[in-house]
Amino acid sequence: TSEIARMKNLIIIEMGQFQVEPWYFSPYPIELAYTPVLYICEFCLSFYGNKTQYARHRTKCTLQHPPGNEIYRKDDLSFFEIDGRRQKTYCRNLCLLSKCFLDHKTLYYDVDPFLFYILTQRDERGCHIIGYFSKEKESAENYNLACILTLPQYQRMGFGRVLMQFSYELSKAEGKVGSPEKPLSDLGLLSYRTFWSEVLVDMLVMYEGEISIDELSQMTSFTVQDIMHALYSLDALRYYHGQHCIVLSERVVETYERFKKKNHRRVDPSCLRWTPKV
Ligand code: COA
Ligand code: NA
Repeated sequence: TSEIARMKNLIIIEMGQFQVEPWYFSPYPIELAYTPVLYICEFCLSFYGNKTQYARHRTKCTLQHPPGNEIYRKDDLSFFEIDGRRQKTYCRNLCLLSKCFLDHKTLYYDVDPFLFYILTQRDERGCHIIGYFSKEKESAENYNLACILTLPQYQRMGFGRVLMQFSYELSKAEGKVGSPEKPLSDLGLLSYRTFWSEVLVDMLVMYEGEISIDELSQMTSFTVQDIMHALYSLDALRYYHGQHCIVLSERVVETYERFKKKNHRRVDPSCLRWTPKV
């Protein structure tokens, strides 16, 4: 079965005002495979192969935001925290949707061990899902993120950064360092490398005096290994007399200048209403 099962099975999915083409196979029910359009309710994520059924659902669905606690709000952006154990259907539907854009990860049918953090944008109709990340409730490896997705209609607009930054704000609140689960996809690795680099160059350029990798780790909740990886890619690590030194290489300065021009959305930590469960 596996060869057939892995072939892309959906043609177009429609969510709210967007139509997108899936990238990969996703295990939606077999009777929906190759339906011309799969209609997905952007609020509850339930799916329909037929427009009439979908329209009927829309008249009945009362959700205007993801079914969890709003733990962050700033301007039009919010984060909702959802427990996989309490909202199984929503979380399974979210996994099905995200599998359309994830090649390598095994899909977790067992959503119980995960929390899901949904990023939304608000308008007069409700809070529309932009993307999300999942996080194991207990991670032996100190992973602070399992899966991350920006829906294709919102990619390359800086929302991946917002999701990554938020995952580290949670780690800071927990007083822990964290790292995304491996292996990362190509897009995941590219995005993390850019994100880590930009956060670090901002600190290195602004910080007066010497700073160690351990201090950077405490300030950012990035692991020492991820910091080393980013600094290495910035050509900012030198090895002198048996120890690593951080230098403001040309690439650091260039990256900093490019970063300043981008003027990205940022998570405002003072708007986080969340305490870690103990
Ligand atoms: N090509 C080249 N660089 C890319 C890229 C692409 N298609 N997508 C992201 N990047 C890099 C860029 O450096 C970008 O910064 P820039 O736009 O200022 O140059 C940086 O990543 C962050 O981009 P951003 O707009 O914040 O990310 P995003 O909202 O597009 O989300 C992912 C990034 C990884 C979440 C998104 O690509 C995605 O959902 N992919 C499919 C799922 C996946 O692979 N998840 C990771 C594994 S679990
Ligand atoms: Na971008």
